[in-house]
Parts: sequence; structure tokens; C-alpha cells
Amino acid sequence: MEALECIKTRRSIRKFTEQPVTEDEVRQVVEAAAFAPSWKNTQIARYIVVTDKEKKDKLADNCMLGFTYNQKTTHGAPALVVLTMIKERSGYERDGSFSTPLATHWQSFDAGIAAQTFCLSAHALGLGTVIMGIYDPAEVAKVVEIPEGQEVAALIALGHPAQDPQRRRVRMSIRCCDLSKSAYFEHRGSNSAVLFFSRHKVTRAHELPSAGSPYLGGSFFCTGKPGCANCVSVFDPDGRGVFR
Ligand SMILES: Cc1cc2nc3c(=O)[nH]c(=O)nc-3n(C[C@H](O)[C@H](O)[C@H](O)COP(=O)(O)O)c2cc1C
Repeated sequence: MEALECIKTRRSIRKFTEQPVTEDEVRQVVEAAAFAPSWKNTQIARYIVVTDKEKKDKLADNCMLGFTYNQKTTHGAPALVVLTMIKERSGYERDGSFSTPLATHWQSFDAGIAAQTFCLSAHALGLGTVIMGIYDPAEVAKVVEIPEGQEVAALIALGHPAQDPQRRRVRMSIRCCDLSKSAYFEHRGSNSAVLFFSRHKVTRAHELPSAGSPYLGGSFFCTGKPGCANCVSVFDPDGRGVFR
């Protein structure tokens, strides 16, 4: 599957067929997910794949903080992946101090990139996934042995999709690195307005001087001062924002 198609067609899958996932399928997904970038190439993500029904039932019944969607998803998924991260490496110096004021932030950041890479890889191979954040890590650790020095970063249900959700609407945000020129593009579907936002003002596309329709809005001078040509953003008819 082509990369952009994979990114745009992936959806969270919460219903699965009864077909088990094979070891080979899991291996392919994890192998691809291992290519995710990470802080100083620390590669802290690890995957514990639970297929044992008894364990999976315990995870569903005891670990989802009573959130019934996740309970149902876990019961119905042939595999539940416990994504763990090795603690105190990503974002840390060798002496154990934080590398940046963002402290523990980077380890979860890396785990997030790994999770999405995992989900995209699974999708490319015809498998479905949903990342789940509503769970109790302490309860998960009672069911699944979490290796020393690691902690749970997320749960991911994995299996063969039994649903095909439509592509959802997406919000697009584009911000120019020069702070005098910033824009926020919000794409709300084909009929509604596109908002142009700068540090100075918010303007609906149809209010712009050269606007004919939201998607033919033409140019927008984002300093808010008429005639300022510092920053011009345009929309093409597909609603893709282009900054120039
Ligand atoms: C960090 C994170 C936590 C999430 N937690 C849950 C969850 O607990 N249960 C669930 O059903 N979906 C969960 N999701 C899935 C989101 O609801 C889903 O990604 C979002 O609605 C967008 O839909 P899409 O993935 O189909 O594009 C989570 C997603 C992320 C990134």
C-alpha cells in the first residue's frame, strides 16, 4: 500500500473477525514498527502480545477502568498488544538527569510514534488496530508481567477488521515558522467555512477580499494589516492548505 493512502485510510477498528492473528503477522508488524524514530535512537518501545483468551478476558474485565467500549473491544480482539516503554532513557542523560525541561515527556512521545507506526504497519498488512488509553496500568501489570525497568505506554487491540469505517473529517493545522506569519487552517468538510487564523485576527474565508467560495479564497494577508504581503496562504479546491 502506498504510504499516503495508508495514512489516510487507517481508521481505529473496534470490531474484529474471529480469525486469529498469526505469529508471522505480528512479527511483520512489530518489525516494521521498529523503524519508528526515537529520541537519540533509544528505541524504547516494546510489544507484549496477548492472545491467551483467559488473560485477555482478565484484561478486559479488570483493567479498563469500567470503560465498556474498551472491554468489548478487548474481548472481541484476537490479540491485545501491551505497548511498553523502557523507563528513563528517552529524554534522559546518562547520569539519569533530564535532558530538557520537558522532563519525562519524550518517552511517551516516542511510545506514541511507535504506536502509530505499529498501527500503520498493521493497516498496510490488512490488519486493524485501535490504540486504547483508558486502562489502569497497575491492574494490567497484575495480568501481564511487565519486564523490570519498563512501564505500560498504551494498549492496542489487533485483529482482522470486521468493520470498514468511513474516512473521517480531519482538521488541518499549518503554522509558518516565522511568528509574524501564522495561519491556522481548519477544514470542516466541503460545504462549511474554512477559518483563517493569524496571531492578529480570525477571518472566515468568504470575508476575504478575493474570496469567491471557501475553497477559492485566494490570498490572505495574515498580519491583519491591509496590503501586507508578508504571508500569503491559499487553498486549492480540494481544501488542502498551501503556505507560501
Ligand atoms: C492516545 C490515544 C488514546 C486513545 N484511547 C482510546 C480508548 O481508550 N478507546 C478507544 O476506543 N479509542 C481510543 N483511541 C482512538 C481514538 O478515539 C481515535 O483515534 C480517534 O477517534 C480518531 O479516529 P480514527 O483513529 O479512526 O482516525 C485513542 C487514540 C489515541 C491516539
